[in-house]
Amino acid sequence: MFEEQIIPLPDDVFRLLRDFIHGYCGIFFDDGSKFLLERRLSRRLEQHRLKSFEEYYHFLRYDRKREEELTVLVDNLTTNETYFFRESPQLRAFSEEILPELRQTLAARKTLRIWSAGCSTGEEPYTIAILLLEAGEWWRDWQVEILGSDINQRVLHTARKGVYKKSAHRATSPEMLSKYFIEEEKGNYRIIDKVRGLVSFSSLNLLDPYKTSLISNVDVIFCRNVIIYFDKEAKKKVISSFHDKLRGGGYLLLGHSESLINISNAFLLRTLKNDMVYQKPLRGTAEGSNSKEQSMNKF
Ligand SMILES: C[S@@+](CC[C@H](N)C(=O)[O-])C[C@H]1O[C@@H](n2cnc3c(N)ncnc32)[C@H](O)[C@@H]1O
Repeated sequence: MFEEQIIPLPDDVFRLLRDFIHGYCGIFFDDGSKFLLERRLSRRLEQHRLKSFEEYYHFLRYDRKREEELTVLVDNLTTNETYFFRESPQLRAFSEEILPELRQTLAARKTLRIWSAGCSTGEEPYTIAILLLEAGEWWRDWQVEILGSDINQRVLHTARKGVYKKSAHRATSPEMLSKYFIEEEKGNYRIIDKVRGLVSFSSLNLLDPYKTSLISNVDVIFCRNVIIYFDKEAKKKVISSFHDKLRGGGYLLLGHSESLINISNAFLLRTLKNDMVYQKPLRGTAEGSNSKEQSMNKF
């Protein structure tokens, strides 16, 4: 057996590298994570025949192949855990409360835009598409867009293929599995074209102001289990950009362990029957309008 060679990461270079990574994608590695970076990135140095992390840092900043390396770096450092029908109370709030409301409020416009920001391998946006199909297809003559985006190219490749192992279905009911997936050999499940056709995927770094400026007038943003890895400053940037991209009255759905406390006062916290969700006020700011709900902590 060959032992993986670990190249030492000096403290000063660790700080340069982590600040660079943080500035690029928002993910913050505290001092306790030095060993993790050392372990996960040592093989990148070997790959490029670099002798030290200092050389690797310069490579990331100035080499003409830096963009390619950033893609691999992100792939090595991001957590991509996800599965179909994750966080069922929130999905019930979406299906049973948010969608019927949008059906009424958007009836004149007949457009519905949903963004799964940080969609990983695609289970989240495909779940949203299935929930829409299950909602009765009243939106058939609407213009419906479901966008899944992620910074990691590898997960997007899997998302576009739409073929999943059984482990992606730990929360999928047998009924949903047989209705929306085709079982193939080797225990793979392929999402049916009717669902796949509703979702488009795009590579997008949530901290890239240029790329995100192309998105606007969104009705619902799902950004679940993504900004938990960001520090406060990066969270504030991303949430403020979500606020810009949502139309007034649009919803922001975060992961169940996430909240906007100390991050933003620009959203209303609404207590629905199934879950609590954030909503961009129709006009003006959240402060003052519905202050009782706003002042509640989510958890
Ligand atoms: C744990 S997964 C969450 C997947 C899904 N939203 C869910 O809750 O099941 C987090 C995803 O966020 C992505 N991510 C991390 N930083 C990002 C950034 N700056 N821009 C876009 N996506 C990012 C990661 O690549 C990863 O696929």
